[in-house]
Parts: sequence; C-alpha cells; structure tokens
Amino acid sequence: MDNKMKVCIEVEDAAASRIIYDSISSRSEFSLITTFPYYADIYIIEVVDDFGNALIKIRNFLDINPALEILVISTEANHSRILEFVNTGVRGYFLLPLSINKFEASIETFAKRYYKERYRNDVHCRTISFLGAKGGTGNTSICVNTALSIQTNNDPTLLMDLHQPHGDAHVILDVDPMHTMGYLVREVHRLDASLLTDVAAKHKTGLNVLPPISHHNEIPLASVEAMSSILEVAKSIYQYIVIDHGSGLNEIDLAYLNTSEYIAITCQPDILSLRNAKLYVGFLRDYNENFMSKIRIIVNRFDSTSKLTIEDISKFLAIDVFHTIPNDYKRISSCCHSGALLHENHPDAKITKSFSDLSSKITRKQDSNNVKQQPKPRSFLRNLFQSRG
Ligand SMILES: Nc1ncnc2c1ncn2[C@@H]1O[C@H](COP(=O)(O)OP(=O)(O)OP(=O)(O)O)[C@@H](O)[C@H]1O
Ligand SMILES: [Mg+2]
Repeated sequence: MDNKMKVCIEVEDAAASRIIYDSISSRSEFSLITTFPYYADIYIIEVVDDFGNALIKIRNFLDINPALEILVISTEANHSRILEFVNTGVRGYFLLPLSINKFEASIETFAKRYYKERYRNDVHCRTISFLGAKGGTGNTSICVNTALSIQTNNDPTLLMDLHQPHGDAHVILDVDPMHTMGYLVREVHRLDASLLTDVAAKHKTGLNVLPPISHHNEIPLASVEAMSSILEVAKSIYQYIVIDHGSGLNEIDLAYLNTSEYIAITCQPDILSLRNAKLYVGFLRDYNENFMSKIRIIVNRFDSTSKLTIEDISKFLAIDVFHTIPNDYKRISSCCHSGALLHENHPDAKITKSFSDLSSKITRKQDSNNVKQQPKPRSFLRNLFQSRG
C-alpha cells in the first residue's frame, strides 16, 4: 500500500489553482493523480454554475468511494446552496478568492486524521472465530449477540460475515449496508483504515458490521491475500473482531483461523451436530496442532431437559464445553430482524446473561488449555460414534 495521500485537482480559477498546487506539492505526504477522482483520497473541485450536476457527480463519486474527502471551491456564497453540498458529504467548502491560510489549515487537519486512522497499530486486537458444526445451529445468532455484548463496553468491535453469499448477521441487526466485503476486495489496492470504516455498516450501538460478499463477480476477487489484507487492516482499527464463518471451511476461513485467538465451534446437544463438531475438532487438530489450544466448544439450545449432559458432550468431544446457551426461541427471535437488543428488551433473561457471560469469558485474559488428555467416552456415546473416531 502506498503511504502517500492521493490528491485529484479540478480547479480552473488561476489564483486558487496556484495556491492549491503550491500547497499540495510542497508537502511530501501528498501525491497528485490525474486519473478518476474516486481513486484519490482528496478531490478538490471548483463548481462554477451547474450546481445540480455537480451534486449528482459528487454523490456518484462518494457512492464509488465513500472514503473520498471532497473539497469544493466556488464563488457561490448562498447558505442553503453550501448546505446542500455539505449534506451530500462534502468535507470542505471554500469561497473564492481562496484564502491560503484556510486552505492549508483544512489540508493539515485532513492529513492528521488520515494518518491517525491509518496507523492505529497500537490497538491490540482480539479475533474470535465462530464456526457452526452444522447449518442452523445458531452460529449467526451467537456471533451477533456476542458482538453486541462486547460492544456494550464501548470497545471498538467489528462483526465480519464470511458466510458468503448467505450471511445474514446484518439482517438480524437490521442495518442497511451500502456495501459489502465485495467492495473492499475490489478496492483492495487502496484499502486502508479509513476505507474499511467507511464501508462497515454501523449498528446503533456502535458495533461495525462487514456483510459478506454476495455478488458472484466478486467471489473470484476474494483471494486469500485480499481477504487477509482486510483482516490485517481491521486488526489495526478494532479491539475485537467477531467472525461468522458459517458452517463450512475454505482456504480463507483457515487463513482467518490461523490468526484468531479463539476458534469457537458452535453445536447443539444432538447427535448429528455433535458428530460434526467432533469431525471439525479432528480436522482442525490435524491441520494445525496449535489450533487445539484455541478451540472452544459452545453448546447452543442447551438446557436441563437436554438428553445429553455437559459431561457426556465434553467426554465425547474430548474437550471441556466452554459455554452453554439456553434454548429460548421466543426471546432470541424477538430481537431478530429488528436490531433490538436482548439486554434492553430482556435484561433478566437467562439467555441474555448467557451472552454477557460468554463475552466476559472471551474478553478476559486467556483461560487455561481446555483439552482433555484421556477422554473416556461413555458407552452409549462410544457406540454411536465409534466408527468416526
Ligand atoms: N439459543 C437459541 N434458542 C432458540 N432458538 C435459537 C437459539 N439460537 C438460535 N436460534 C434460532 O435458530 C434459527 C437459526 O439461527 P441462526 O441463523 O443464528 O443459525 P446459523 O447457524 O447461523 O444458520 P445458517 O447455517 O443458516 O447460517 C433462528 O431462527 C434463530 O432465532
Ligand atoms: Mg448463519
């Protein structure tokens, strides 16, 4: 990634143009570009008369590149006109004749903000991957509610949906994203913190969400390298990243698991789900022996009426169950698709407490290795799963 901020200038006024070019070329952090304005970080445009057309053009550029900083130069001093530009997303509006001091102060502010966002490498990020043992185990509900629970501490948190193209975390949260991760893989050549945060949809709690790639044209662009760049930039911004992997594993999922602090396998207390969870544990252990210390088993829809006990499940999987979440369709679905929050609508419910306990476990310092050394499956489980080892 190029460190310089790219500036595109379209200004006719001779005096203003001289001030802008002198100011930009005297600073080593800027470089001028002459291609499309939306490839730039800053676009400085003079608007002479056709204001309607200029507003449409600006809106289009911001649609393509939401991180673009647009500065308008004009003789038009009408307040409502200026407001129209500001409401469209213009960052700065300068009247002609251009004041050199005002222009340089604005450029200085922009440069500071840009570098602050781009190089926040001091943030220690914890990444938690959630992998469903089977479709429909509640993996997305768990990701969403865990991420919301972490976000209540106001720690910058991102929910990344890798379950392409079906991922529906943003639907559960009822956010309306303008872009998906597909936009980021297309624009990976200029990916930085500012672009990523602009693209991430914002939930009312402050939780940021990156919806999955959903367009077939973008899937081939989502190489392991491109997707890893997105994760790398995200790690420099957020303190927690919660990843919904869905219930399948491909090369991108494995690359993400490599850098995750926890690999949470979500399952239900039923035979097929546990069988798959066991297969995943074995697969991940064989793939990378370091994964064993990261794996955490989360049993969803678990309650005292479940036929299998926690001990049964732990012994069968040869790993302690890390967490259980009760069966509570009424409450969890009442918050689904409405962006409503369990802790606001059902503060005293068991399921709400379960998610806040899960987020506390995840956010506190590493717990001890939870791998059992000598698993001794109970006989009925051994019979059921013998052939799968
Ligand atoms: N603890 C729970 N109690 C009751 N219902 C639940 C619980 N967790 C999830 N559900 C419900 O189960 C259904 C499936 O949940 P969800 O979409 O989160 O599963 P998923 O594993 O992400 O599915 P998919 O494989 O389609 O991505 C939803 O209707 C959800 O409300
Ligand atoms: Mg899901």
